[in-house]
Amino acid sequence: MTQTDSAAIVLAAGEGTRMRSRRPKVSHPLAGRPLLGHVLDTLDAVGVGRRVVVVGPNMPQVEAIAAPHPTVPQTERLGTAHATLQARLALDDPSGTVLILYGDTPLIRPETLRAMVEARDNAAVVVLGFRAVDPTGYGRLVTGADGALEAIVEHKDASEAQRAITLCNSGVMAVDGRLLFPLLDRVGNDNAKGEYYLTDIVALARADGHRCAVVEGDEAEMLGINDRAQLAAAERVVQDRLRAAAMAGGVTMTDPGSVILSMDTRFGQDVTVGPFCVFGPGVTVGDDVEFKGFCHLEGCVIEAGATVGPYARLRPAAVIGEGAHIGNFVEVKKATVEAGAKVNHLTYIGDARVGAKANIGAGTITCNYDGFAKHHTDIGAGAFIGSNSALVAPVKIGDGAIIGAGSAISRDVPADALSLTRAPQDTREGWAAKFRSRMKRLTGKG
Ligand code: UD1
Ligand code: MG
Repeated sequence: MTQTDSAAIVLAAGEGTRMRSRRPKVSHPLAGRPLLGHVLDTLDAVGVGRRVVVVGPNMPQVEAIAAPHPTVPQTERLGTAHATLQARLALDDPSGTVLILYGDTPLIRPETLRAMVEARDNAAVVVLGFRAVDPTGYGRLVTGADGALEAIVEHKDASEAQRAITLCNSGVMAVDGRLLFPLLDRVGNDNAKGEYYLTDIVALARADGHRCAVVEGDEAEMLGINDRAQLAAAERVVQDRLRAAAMAGGVTMTDPGSVILSMDTRFGQDVTVGPFCVFGPGVTVGDDVEFKGFCHLEGCVIEAGATVGPYARLRPAAVIGEGAHIGNFVEVKKATVEAGAKVNHLTYIGDARVGAKANIGAGTITCNYDGFAKHHTDIGAGAFIGSNSALVAPVKIGDGAIIGAGSAISRDVPADALSLTRAPQDTREGWAAKFRSRMKRLTGKG
């Protein structure tokens, strides 16, 4: 197959009733990416550019996930052959291989599809099969003495002898594009379910003298998502794959099973990830970064040599510069913490810049929200913000300035100045001792 004339049809018109969701099934995320997105990514990896997604009526979310690829509606759910036929106009007489996949079967690997595409050289129809531990409900692959595929029989239509076959249909097919639609035109619905079965094209192709073949894959890859428990099972598989890939790429994980990654998590080399860290979508990590345990990150960049956590929260558009320190119970949102800056304890930095090598004391808060709008805080390089300070935005602290502990700063502070807001300290010698003896007299306690 030349990659240019190959195409794919992804069936995603199912309602996904068993998900008990208001959203279409294929829009549910797995490792931060919709189920359908996983299938489309796999097609990218295989180099199948042209594709059409068959959607149910009124599924704008699915159209958005499919974009820029076109979607076609299947207005009545009359079976997998009928669904596949809806792609006919959009594909416009394909001449190469057409892959047919399900939008709710996200674990199939690129290498598996590549094996199917190769097998297509010697067969008009290639079906991805697997040995099912429990074949109930699956279509059975009926093979001849030479191992070639003769027919697919749906469970409900199968004889006792056919039900004993454990080689099952995953649903994925690679079909000669010149034959696909003419074969589909001939599929009827005289069967147990009264549906137009895509699987019938195998027997039809055989009857025309075409060879059909099976490529066998691992059952774990074939998991289709019908309910939330299967979604969770698929999540485990994807997480295992992502963690293995991260470690293979040079990331140390002290307790990999407790770390959650996203499809697009990017790690540099020699990164260390402690236990119970969650990497939501859109996280990019440079070399030599250390995450201590229990961090939660999304949509952020952590540059080389930074240390983060334990218990840090980095939210979208947080950028942590080279060698910066983000410590425990620190939240950073839409803010740049420049190289070598330290924000070590109990702090909120939002809509802000923390200049290089600045030191932010424990309990500092950038007060970025006035109930109506968000405002910016700019902290200059080398500034020192005393503990428990409130920086009321918009406000600018100059390079090298010092803010006294416990201050509420709402006006700009020039470079190298000291600024503090504090009631004068009032100390009364002996007061506490006198207080205690008076209270003892009055109450008899203490
Ligand atoms: C199908 C196969 C079966 C295979 C099994 C693997 C057929 C006839 N049977 O059975 O051999 O073992 O998958 O899981 O193909 N869909 C549409 N429109 C429709 C019908 C289905 O878009 O009109 C989509 C569904 O959203 C789903 C996929 O096609 O993603 C499969 O449909 P489903 O009803 O689950 O088929 P099965 O009966 O499980
Ligand atoms: Mg099914």
